[in-house]
Amino acid sequence: MRRKLAAGNWKMNGTADDLAQIEALTAAFAAPSVDLLICPPATLIAQMVWKKGAHPLAIGGQDCHTAAKGAHTGDISAPILAAAGATAVLVGHSERRTDHQETDALVSVKATAAYDAGLTAVICIGETLAEREAGTTLDVVRNQLAGSIPDAATAANTVIAYEPVWAIGTGKIPTIEQIAEVHGFIRSELTARFAAEGEGMRVLYGGSVKPSNAADIFAVADVDGALVGGASLKADDFGPIITALEATV
Ligand code: PGA
Repeated sequence: MRRKLAAGNWKMNGTADDLAQIEALTAAFAAPSVDLLICPPATLIAQMVWKKGAHPLAIGGQDCHTAAKGAHTGDISAPILAAAGATAVLVGHSERRTDHQETDALVSVKATAAYDAGLTAVICIGETLAEREAGTTLDVVRNQLAGSIPDAATAANTVIAYEPVWAIGTGKIPTIEQIAEVHGFIRSELTARFAAEGEGMRVLYGGSVKPSNAADIFAVADVDGALVGGASLKADDFGPIITALEATV
């Protein structure tokens, strides 16, 4: 059985004042029955790791460079994230793909850099609105999976986040049937390529997950949790999403 995962992506939000949210979250879920991950701005990783103490909450980065170190001003590497206490890193988020022209091939090398540093790679994929309307969603997803996931991926080192680009930060979500179709397709692609390891990889849904829609999304087969942006910033919003996920286990 795949252990469910509620992941929060704080994006470019958060300062030391927001460590109070971590305190509230770990107090509210002292012994969570699902895995929890927060990916804050890199400046907060070490402080969050310290703040959470022995709590099983995992802390992750939002991106990593392909190289372990070197002359790359402004970038951060997977070993540096790991040394700060991170255990996971997002790679290929649609905002990175759009803002920084990241390709599937680059994302795959970043995922490999994550593995080399002992980090779990949360590999993000998803179609644009134009691709959805053109009826090419499954083709896009197939190509992103094929190009973004390294051959060395395992159930332990890789999580897939399916995030329709048009659902991120918009308040719009696909229908339950659309989510079920894509998640079922992703599962079949993963098992075809990675056999039992592919069966064990978690596939998260992301894009406008909120307390009000979380339970419906989590009821879908092959949805193993969520990657949450805006609603992960406050424990009062993320808490009910975690509770909805816990209700499925
Ligand atoms: P959102 O972001 O929940 O604010 O839509 C999700 C994401 O980008 O991971």
